Amino acid sequence: MSDTAPVTVEATPRTLTLEIFRYNPADPASEPHFQTYTLEETAGMTLFIALSLIREEQDPGLQFDFVCRAGICGSCAMLVNGTPTLACRTLTQSLDATIRLAPLPVFELIGDLSVNTGKWMRNMSEALETWVHSQEAEDLHAMEEKMDPALAESIYELERCIECGCCVAGCGTAIMRESFVGAVGLNKITRFQLDPRDQRSDADFYELVGTDEGIFGCMTLLGCQDVCPKNLPLQSQLAFLRRKMARTGVAMTFQRRPGK
Ligand code: SF4
Ligand code: F3S
Ligand code: FES
Repeated sequence: MSDTAPVTVEATPRTLTLEIFRYNPADPASEPHFQTYTLEETAGMTLFIALSLIREEQDPGLQFDFVCRAGICGSCAMLVNGTPTLACRTLTQSLDATIRLAPLPVFELIGDLSVNTGKWMRNMSEALETWVHSQEAEDLHAMEEKMDPALAESIYELERCIECGCCVAGCGTAIMRESFVGAVGLNKITRFQLDPRDQRSDADFYELVGTDEGIFGCMTLLGCQDVCPKNLPLQSQLAFLRRKMARTGVAMTFQRRPGK
């Protein structure tokens, strides 16, 4: 057995350069620009830690959002080197030493890296009526029907969405068409279509998403699938919804034809 102690090689700490988008839309004197900050990287540093240090030590006016720091609340999504990502789950070690941060596109800018995803999500949810539509649900004393565990699992899988907005920011259609409901909205509709408690018909769902703002606006660009931090099966849900809505649309057309 060798008596030589193992040699550990300490990695040289890096100096990070963060180029951060700065703009305050409420200030007429503010101009959009990137501001550069440098800081020493530490072990296990996330973008949340880096931004917090910059705000504490260099620039108390820097705006960004974090709540849970654990990939649960969805509030910290931003463009990291151009890709929509949750900043609290991104280790600086996984990136080059120069990091460019910008706010998510599509959503209303509050300031710097902070955007109003809540307003967009609320508008989308109201437009798509993303709640269970059921007579029984209005009776608080009614017993719930038992649900097949496999079906409950499928619904739960889609419920894991944290409304971070990454799929919207990574979608060319959402960037070009303001009223497009995005993969997040289409995923929600699929979730309610699966739910046996929801008494809406296929025709009701068609009215909601059988449009260019809904499933027929999706050009299958699949950026949504690539950037979803919860790895939701968006690609298969969009394909399922498109087939279902196309069939419903054809059936509705034949039903409306006189004499049929
Ligand atoms: Fe975020 Fe994924 Fe939900 Fe889109 S579907 S809002 S990317 S969690
Ligand atoms: Fe957009 Fe995803 Fe469709 S990126 S175009 S919603 S496949
Ligand atoms: Fe909640 Fe990042 S702070 S998901």
